[in-house]
Amino acid sequence: MLNENNLKRVEELKRRYPTTQALTLPVLWMVQEQEGYVSEASMQEVAELLNVTFAHVLGVVTFYTMFHTKPVGRHHIEVCTNVSCMLRGSEKIMSHLEHRLGVKCGETTPDKKVTLNETECLGACGYAPMLAIGEAYHEHLTPDKVDRLLEGLS
Ligand code: FES
Repeated sequence: MLNENNLKRVEELKRRYPTTQALTLPVLWMVQEQEGYVSEASMQEVAELLNVTFAHVLGVVTFYTMFHTKPVGRHHIEVCTNVSCMLRGSEKIMSHLEHRLGVKCGETTPDKKVTLNETECLGACGYAPMLAIGEAYHEHLTPDKVDRLLEGLS
């Protein structure tokens, strides 16, 4: 359920966009910022708020990998496994992270501190292999550099 402040933001956005359907992405982003993920109940709420179908909202959420449909850890690590990163060793980086965190790709550590996922190209191919922790990119990765990153996570 969007909080009062976010509901006001939605009303403001409605004045700036040609259709309510065009608000789907910004409103879903708002939901994720507020809740940490986009639940099925939130998708239903967004559909009603924007007067679009649930299928439309579900389609948007499941198309874009940046939307989480279940809770993630305090730190969300996404390892790019697309071509440039794969050629520069992303598999080794992912294996190292799985070993260090004790979870497999797609899982969250038992203390809910870290969720580990793979992702498609994040547009930093020239700095491969890379990963993102939230919105911060970390590039030219090595296992040692990954260890330092993990040590820096609170
Ligand atoms: S392939 Fe990894 S950032 Fe593009």
